[in-house]
Amino acid sequence: MSRRVEDNLFPAHRAESLMRRAIGLTEGTVPHPNPRVGAIVVDPDGEIISERAHIRPGLPHAEAAALAAAGPAAEGSTVICTLEPCSHHGRTPPCVDAIIEAGIARVIVGTVDPDPRVSGSGLAALRAAGIEVVVGVEEDAVRANDPAYFHHRTTGRPFVTLKMALTLDGQSAAADGTARWITGPEAREDGHRLRAESDVILVGAGTVIADDPRLDVRLDGYDGPHPRPVIVAGTRSIPETAALMSRDPLVFTAGEQQAGLDGVAQVSVGADGRVDLDAAMTYLGEQGYVSVLIEGGPTIDAAALASGVVHRVVLYYGAKFGGGTGLPAINGTFRTISAAQPVTIESITPMGRDFKVEASIEGAN
Ligand SMILES: NC(=O)c1ccc[n+]([C@@H]2O[C@H](COP(=O)([O-])OP(=O)(O)OC[C@H]3O[C@@H](n4cnc5c(N)ncnc54)[C@H](OP(=O)(O)O)[C@@H]3O)[C@@H](O)[C@H]2O)c1
Repeated sequence: MSRRVEDNLFPAHRAESLMRRAIGLTEGTVPHPNPRVGAIVVDPDGEIISERAHIRPGLPHAEAAALAAAGPAAEGSTVICTLEPCSHHGRTPPCVDAIIEAGIARVIVGTVDPDPRVSGSGLAALRAAGIEVVVGVEEDAVRANDPAYFHHRTTGRPFVTLKMALTLDGQSAAADGTARWITGPEAREDGHRLRAESDVILVGAGTVIADDPRLDVRLDGYDGPHPRPVIVAGTRSIPETAALMSRDPLVFTAGEQQAGLDGVAQVSVGADGRVDLDAAMTYLGEQGYVSVLIEGGPTIDAAALASGVVHRVVLYYGAKFGGGTGLPAINGTFRTISAAQPVTIESITPMGRDFKVEASIEGAN
């Protein structure tokens, strides 16, 4: 629940709209495994002095960057930040130190940082320095802006999105295995934005063998990091010439290592040629991966849904009919109606001639 700000420096609704603005500053940032954070330095009349977001790991945190941009004008002002300022030394010094040194009078925070290294200690340090601290402004919106970070820091596991491109009648490829392209350029571009937000892209052996994908981010002007490719291998050999091999892939196997993949990281989770996807997600979370995007194919999609690891589904429906059975969206058995997985439709968005459906799944691991 968001808390309203009653203050004597500027009106409460201004703090709430500034917090929404701070959230907006994070658009297009790729900071994982760090959180998406925006910060604004505001003078006592509510005028913005400076504003910044944390753009990538290793670059300055939002609060420190906004204070540096404000310079001496920050003294006596308010800092609005989406997340509790950090109090520990990471790749950059603690933001609470920068706030105290800048002579800030008040800090308005969206929500407490669930990271055990912070989790209230940043707020305590600010209060101990005599700074007024308000917490819980637009809290739900802040959490919704980076669900993967909050999920990872509270469970230790990654937030998993399953993405599929389907014909309007639910086919993920034609009978001959061809799937390029089911959707038009707008939907495909949106899919690349989804990749840019993800730390990992996971595909099954069947997709690597059939499509030889690169799984990188291809957006005009994009210069951010690319998600690490993860291959779920089974009984067939993954070709050592696969395009993904030049992108430092991680291969999950079920038992024996895949031969011929010299220098490729391989982790065994599972047995009998079937990777245990729940254990695979646990491993990825332990490695610090915050968000995983599953890009199929239908056999891995079915296994991921059945193992309860999927939190969100993103379906791109192309304005095309397959007109028969090619490859299904999900290669499993829909046994009986009571076995259907209930979902919450979060949004339906037109994309050129196509459209996107986002749905969340309650109770995923
Ligand atoms: N429209 C879309 O959004 C989309 C996206 C991706 C792919 N595709 C299409 O999908 C097709 C490939 O799909 P696919 O179903 O054949 O392959 P897949 O889902 O990419 O890979 C499945 C394979 O993964 C291995 N595996 C290891 N552990 C597993 C587990 N626990 N559960 C299930 N599989 C496991 C098995 O390999 P072994 O057989 O070697 O044991 C299995 O056959 C291609 O035609 C591609 O174009 C479409």
